Amino acid sequence: KQKIQIGLCGLGTVGSGVVQILQDHQEQIRYKLGCEVEVAKVLVKNKEKKREYIGDAGILTTEPADITDNPAIDIVVEVMGGMDDTYQLLERSIRNRKHIVTANKDLMAEQGDKLFALSQEYNTDIYYEASVAGGIPILRTLSDGLASDKIQKVMGIVNGTTNFILTKMTDENLSFEPVLQEAQALGFAEADPTSDVEGLDAARKMTLLANLAFKMPVAYEDVEVSGITSITQEDIDFAGRLGYQMKLIGIAAMDDGKVEVSVEPTLLPTAHPLAQVKNEYNAVYVYGQAVGETMFYGPGAGGLPTATAVVSDLMEVVKNVRLGVSGKAYVTPQYKKALKDNTQ
Ligand code: NAP
Ligand code: HSE
Repeated sequence: KQKIQIGLCGLGTVGSGVVQILQDHQEQIRYKLGCEVEVAKVLVKNKEKKREYIGDAGILTTEPADITDNPAIDIVVEVMGGMDDTYQLLERSIRNRKHIVTANKDLMAEQGDKLFALSQEYNTDIYYEASVAGGIPILRTLSDGLASDKIQKVMGIVNGTTNFILTKMTDENLSFEPVLQEAQALGFAEADPTSDVEGLDAARKMTLLANLAFKMPVAYEDVEVSGITSITQEDIDFAGRLGYQMKLIGIAAMDDGKVEVSVEPTLLPTAHPLAQVKNEYNAVYVYGQAVGETMFYGPGAGGLPTATAVVSDLMEVVKNVRLGVSGKAYVTPQYKKALKDNTQ
C-alpha cells in the first residue's frame, strides 16, 4: 500500500499533538516509512468545537462505526480515554482486523489482557508506549533494550500532574488547588484528576511497567496506593527544613519470588536524582541484574511529548502492516496468561 489510512479517536490534548506531528513531520515520516499516513476519520464528542489542528472538518465524526467498521482504515489510534465504551470500540476494531495504538493506561492496566488475547486471535498489533511516562520510551526499553536482563527493581515518578503540584508547592510555596487547575489547563491532568491526585494513574502505570519488567502477572488491584491529597504545605516546609523533598514515588520490586508494587508520597534527600525531577517531568530508575543502574528521564505529560510516543508507535505498526507481519510489541505475562486461558 502506498497510503495507510488511520482512524483517530480523540482530538484533545494528545490527539491534536498527533495531528500536529503527522503534519509538521510529514516528509520525515514518509521518508522513513516509504508511504503516506493519512488521517481518514477523527472521532470526537462535539463536532462543533473550534479546533486548531485539523485540515478538513469533514473527516470529523461522532459515530464510532465510521472508524471501527470502515474498511479503508488499517490502524485505530485511540487517544480519547475512557473505559467500557472505549473497550468496546477497540474490541470491534480488532474484530474488524484493525491494529491499535493507544495512550490509555486505564484500559491497558485493567483490561489489556482481554485486548491482547483478542489481538492474538485476529493477528493484529496493540502498541501502548504513550500510556506510561509520556515522551519517555520506557516500554520499548523494558521490552527490547533490556530484554536480555533480569530486572530487579523499577522505581520512579510516573505522574506528571502530581509532580507538577508538588514542585510548585515546594519551590514556589503555592497551594494545591490553583496548581491542580494550572495542570488541568496545561493538559497534564486526566479528565477526572482524582486518578492523578489519588495515585491511581501512577498505580496503573506501575502495573504496566511491572508486567513488562518482571514477566509475571501483576494486577492493578494488588498495587498499594496512596495519593497526595493529604499532603499539606506544612509537611512540605518541614521536610524541606530537614533536607528532604516530597515526591509521589512508584516502586515495583521482586521480593522472594513475588512482585510488590506500591505508589506513595515519599521523602527523598534533596540530592537524590529523583528529587531533581521537576514539574511535569517523569523519571524511571531500572535496576537490572546485569546492567546495574539505569535511569530514564523526560516529559511525562502534555500534548506533543505524548503524541511523539503515539506517532512512533503508529510508525512501527505501519511498518508491520506494510511487511504483512504482526509486531506484538510488548508481550506481557497478562497477555500470555490470557492466551493460555483462551486456548484451554
Ligand atoms: P482530552 O484532551 O480530554 O481529549 C479527549 C478527546 O477525546 C477529545 O477530543 C474528545 O472530544 C474525545 N472524546 C472523549 N470521549 C469521547 C467519546 N465518548 N466519544 C467520542 N470522542 C470522545 O484528553 P487527552 O489529555 O488528550 O487524553 C487522551 C488519552 O490519552 C487519555 O487516555 C489519557 O489518559 C491519555 N494520556 C494523556 C496524556 C496527557 O498528557 N494529556 C499523556 C499520556 C496519556 P471533544 O474534543 O469533542 O471533546
Ligand atoms: N495525567 C497524566 C499525568 C498524563 O499527569 O501523568 C500522562 O499520563
